[in-house]
Amino acid sequence: SPEDRIRNFSIIAHIDHGKSTLADRLLEITGTVTKEDMKQQLLDSMDIERERGITIKLNTARMNVEEDGKDYVLNLIDTPGHVDFTYEVSRSLAACEGALLVVDATQGVQAQTLANVTLAMEADLEIVPVLNKCDLPSADPDRVCQEIEDVVGIDCSNALQCSAKTGEGVPAIIKSIIDAVPAPTKSEDQKMRLLVFDSFYDNYRGVIAMFRVVDGSISKGQKIRFKNSGKEFLVEEIGIMIGGARRPVQKLAVGEVGYVCANIKTVGDARVGDTIIEAGTEDEVEALPGYTEATPMVFCGLFPSESGDFDAMRSAFEKLSLNDAALFFQPENSVALGLGFRCGFLGVLHMEVVKERLEREYDLDLIVTAPSVEYQLLMKDGTETTIQFANMLPPPIDIAEIREPYCLLEMIVPEEHMGPCMELAVQRRGIYRTTSFLTQGRALLEYEMPMAEMIRDFFAELKSRSRGYASMDYRIIDFRANDLVKLEVDINKTTANPLAQIVHRSRVTEFAKKITKILRDEIPAQQIKVIIQARIGTHIVSSANIKAVRKDVLAKCYGGDITRKKKLLQKQAAGKKRMQAIGKVNVPSEAILAVIKQT
Ligand code: GTP
Repeated sequence: SPEDRIRNFSIIAHIDHGKSTLADRLLEITGTVTKEDMKQQLLDSMDIERERGITIKLNTARMNVEEDGKDYVLNLIDTPGHVDFTYEVSRSLAACEGALLVVDATQGVQAQTLANVTLAMEADLEIVPVLNKCDLPSADPDRVCQEIEDVVGIDCSNALQCSAKTGEGVPAIIKSIIDAVPAPTKSEDQKMRLLVFDSFYDNYRGVIAMFRVVDGSISKGQKIRFKNSGKEFLVEEIGIMIGGARRPVQKLAVGEVGYVCANIKTVGDARVGDTIIEAGTEDEVEALPGYTEATPMVFCGLFPSESGDFDAMRSAFEKLSLNDAALFFQPENSVALGLGFRCGFLGVLHMEVVKERLEREYDLDLIVTAPSVEYQLLMKDGTETTIQFANMLPPPIDIAEIREPYCLLEMIVPEEHMGPCMELAVQRRGIYRTTSFLTQGRALLEYEMPMAEMIRDFFAELKSRSRGYASMDYRIIDFRANDLVKLEVDINKTTANPLAQIVHRSRVTEFAKKITKILRDEIPAQQIKVIIQARIGTHIVSSANIKAVRKDVLAKCYGGDITRKKKLLQKQAAGKKRMQAIGKVNVPSEAILAVIKQT
């Protein structure tokens, strides 16, 4: 049957190990695209990249190959390359039967190699190890094979060696995909079920959803329903992707991979992981497993530096969210920063991408508050809630338990830098799990670590402690109850709301000292004394004062009458007190930002 000739596969790799280069080479060698097309595609892809931003899976492509006189269809299903998109990666892998595990033969296994391979194993894929960059003199494929066997635990006796750059060894990879990756096993006589593994917004066509036909088939003109979102649409066009270009077809059957356009307005209606079924069959057809709602894990406030930009910012957010089902935003009015938004993201990278797009594509100047995670609260009355910002925390007396998200952190570091890297993990409340040694002086370290500690510049710090050699990956595992408290800051007895943070009790003193010091350095001296206090409830943990600059009232007194001098000083003191009572300290917003940035 035709599906015996289909091979659905992904390429998994650590960043820079050559995934895109190998994909290009596969398309070229199979004659799917010519070198000329490739140039054009590169230009187009920059547009698409602009349009699509983060989950760029340009390389999804269908290739036709003849092998031993038989025609095969190879569907390469692209996966996004970053830890924030584990869910999207897992859905792409769920659409495949096999994966090429690409490892740079000059570098060896890295953190994302492991993370991706774990996902591929969970999806029961046939894994074909490929050692890339074998054209380089520093390539050591034998050592790296050993490393893959030791660390990943897959047999490398048939590992392929190639250079994606020169094309050497790539034809053997194509043969290996046909031989090693199983064909889809289902037959066509079941009701339609399609797995959506990617969806993106196109300015002309609305949302385009990429899918794998898991059961049955789909035809143009059919009425479809997204099982989880419950939305129904009429199929306008279905087709296949050939090197970035869409080619319409009439029908796609079981095992095949394609796209659908159906006048869908936002990716929220056609989410990755959803199941497309035929409208009217929802009572008899089950959704495919593995669908999850996008859950933001990292939160921050985004404020326009120019208060007049608020409306422009709202409309930018609305446009971005057409194409980003995981972006969460909600207006907020902050005393210190004015009108802006509270936002939620999948992770720190997602946050940075959105921020950068707002600045670059929408020309907005932004103030970003410190990132925060989500906390689960168990209240004494037995109810549960979640909060994302310290100011949302109810009075401690009502709270039975505060839980914070933990992740499993894997770092690969050169042995000579292990000490400082482990120190960092402990400092950040990491719980040590294991160390395993890779070949040639590298170690894989595993920790369980609070997510809140990871989003505070952890990766940058890890990189600097390993002279740039460490790689890392993480996965959220659970929420755990901890001794977490709200650290607040008062300036002359007035609480500075944007500075409140949720902090683990063990780190309170360190944070409090840092905050009071920054404020003392950043707030200019005033005519009144400024008292800065960092506190938990009523307990003051750290404080700092800024002396008043005195108006030189004594200058008038010619150094003569001492009682007159005293009177004047008293008058001045009274004036100061009044000012203090209303907490009238001129705190520059740079001071607030300095605290937010450095803690
Ligand atoms: P991301 O897109 O960042 O995930 O990286 P990637 O894994 O797709 O890697 P990419 O294909 O962009 O390759 C990274 C770098 O390695 C590029 O500069 C490539 O030109 C280079 N490269 C890829 N394959 C080879 C190879 O076989 N030999 C050599 N010498 N360089 C290669």
